[in-house]
Amino acid sequence: MRAVYAALAVGITMAASGAAQAQDAALGKAAFTGRCGLCHQVDSAKSGPMAPSLKGVIGRKVASLTDFNYSDALKAKGGKWTPADLDTFLASPMKAVPGTKMMMVVPNAADRANLIAYLKTAK
Ligand code: HEC
Repeated sequence: MRAVYAALAVGITMAASGAAQAQDAALGKAAFTGRCGLCHQVDSAKSGPMAPSLKGVIGRKVASLTDFNYSDALKAKGGKWTPADLDTFLASPMKAVPGTKMMMVVPNAADRANLIAYLKTAK
């Protein structure tokens, strides 16, 4: 029994230290698969039917892929996707870009940091 508690304690400590790390691309990859992968992919520059490709999205012009039919709202946003912009967008897409078709909210700042760290690797 004691061994079980010890193992549990180790598990909890590891989970806590994982969450405390500022940016973790591996955690971001898992989050991407769970929350974004339904619509987006990062393996090819070709967009899917649901959403634009996010391959190389960091530093890319907002709403700039020609094979995806973006909302007028996102097309009007302008600029390039910086990590800071992405953070604001993911925290509340509908607030950052009213009228966007992107609905997925990532309320947790650590989750957003991990996702952005992962997207930086998806070149
Ligand atoms: C239900 C489908 C769906 C999910 C899930 C989703 N998105 Fe999107 N996403 C979209 C759509 C649709 C757009 C295009 C929005 C528009 O045109 O207004 C978009 C646009 C984007 C853009 C802008 C891309 C560009 O070319 O300018 C980024 C960045 C983005 N999503 C990131 C994410 C991330 C990160 C996640 C996971 C946390 C996610 N999305 C989850 C549907 C989705």
